[in-house]
Amino acid sequence: MQAITDLKLPHLPIDEDWFAADPIRPFDAARSQHPWLATSPIGYVVTNYTAIRELFIDDSRMHGNYEEMVELMGSTGTPWGNFQIGHILNAEGQRHKRLRDMLAPAFTPRQANRHRQLMRDVMSELLDEWAPKGAFDFEEFASWYPIKVILRMVGAPEAAIPVLRSSLEALGRSVSMDLRVLETMQRGTETCYAYCGDLIDQRQAVHQPGDDNDLLDVLIDCNADGDLSRDEMVNLLTFLLVAGYDTSKNIMTMLMYDMIQRPDIYERCATEPELCARAVEEGMRLHSVNNMMRKVTADIEHRDVLIPAGTTLLFPWAIIGQDPAVAEDPNSFNPERPNKNKHLGFGLGPHMCLGQYIARAQIAEGFHLIAQRIKRPTTTGPRGWRPFAGVWGMIGLPIEFVPA
Ligand code: HEM
Repeated sequence: MQAITDLKLPHLPIDEDWFAADPIRPFDAARSQHPWLATSPIGYVVTNYTAIRELFIDDSRMHGNYEEMVELMGSTGTPWGNFQIGHILNAEGQRHKRLRDMLAPAFTPRQANRHRQLMRDVMSELLDEWAPKGAFDFEEFASWYPIKVILRMVGAPEAAIPVLRSSLEALGRSVSMDLRVLETMQRGTETCYAYCGDLIDQRQAVHQPGDDNDLLDVLIDCNADGDLSRDEMVNLLTFLLVAGYDTSKNIMTMLMYDMIQRPDIYERCATEPELCARAVEEGMRLHSVNNMMRKVTADIEHRDVLIPAGTTLLFPWAIIGQDPAVAEDPNSFNPERPNKNKHLGFGLGPHMCLGQYIARAQIAEGFHLIAQRIKRPTTTGPRGWRPFAGVWGMIGLPIEFVPA
């Protein structure tokens, strides 16, 4: 057994801009030097799909590193710091189970399907406004979609969307630990908390026990039963806004980029909804967006390596689908081929994405309509890239097209 600190490991400079723009080649090179581990400026990176799955079989010795993140950002006791420490991703054991069990009934595949018409309505309205332009930044266009969908799902007023959108834009950077955006994240948290608090007050004023029109009703009943504090309710709602925003928008932007390279698939998505759903899965295999960290809380012995308590591990779920263990010819976008293994774009273990059925339905419904209205799109490529750690993705994707 060798300690992880004694291994000679390849280094991945994940904090550099060039790396965020092209992480696949360095990952392949790292795997050729060590089968499953690399170092990085923020901790050890698990570079191998199978090793990640093995480590998550028993993830009781790993914990989200949000306390440490907040401390390193000098933000203990601040609005953003309290939001990070209180949210569901940082909850463990009984508290996590309580929160997850409360939310779960609103996030089943059946519930996601119930919202498909709402998703189509939102996308059609957006396309009515944007498609006649003939050219726009696809990332900006996509950013309005998830936020409108989730607000409509809980019957919330939409006038505040522009302010909320810039708050969510900032909060999407939370895990990147960038001090330059700390002030915006603090203000963004306050904005979201105020909005979600008002929303809860307004609904509580008209809510009757047992009303279960949507998620908000469910949370209000849990609060009345004493199972959920008001603080937790506001934190949960804010978290849901954040969790669904940057993730969906960034995946849609990267998927559009893939589709532009495969105009044959894109055209067919306009008339073949099943293919469109497969294209979403394939896009997520190639590059989802979350690269999340865990703090090791008790020594782990794995594949003859000792990973001591206190070690930080980064799980690159966003791109691990390009490990050859997942698919033949893993770097190409081909929605029609079978994969050998499932992608990990929605994470793994007890915190695996609760919104995954909503996310899948939302993106597939959205692209089915986009492909009908935005014809023959071309692009000069992304303007830039978000940091690899945290929620990764393109910054800006200018497109030109023929409106239909
Ligand atoms: C394509 C879009 C999305 C992607 C790629 C995504 C990805 C993820 C990932 C990787 C995690 C696990 C993070 C970790 O373990 O550290 C997660 C958790 C979560 N996501 Fe998503 N997500 C997406 C959309 C959504 C949406 C639309 C919602 C809800 C409206 C949502 C709600 C959640 C919740 C509540 C959790 C925390 C679950 C828990 O801690 O038990 N997500 N998501």
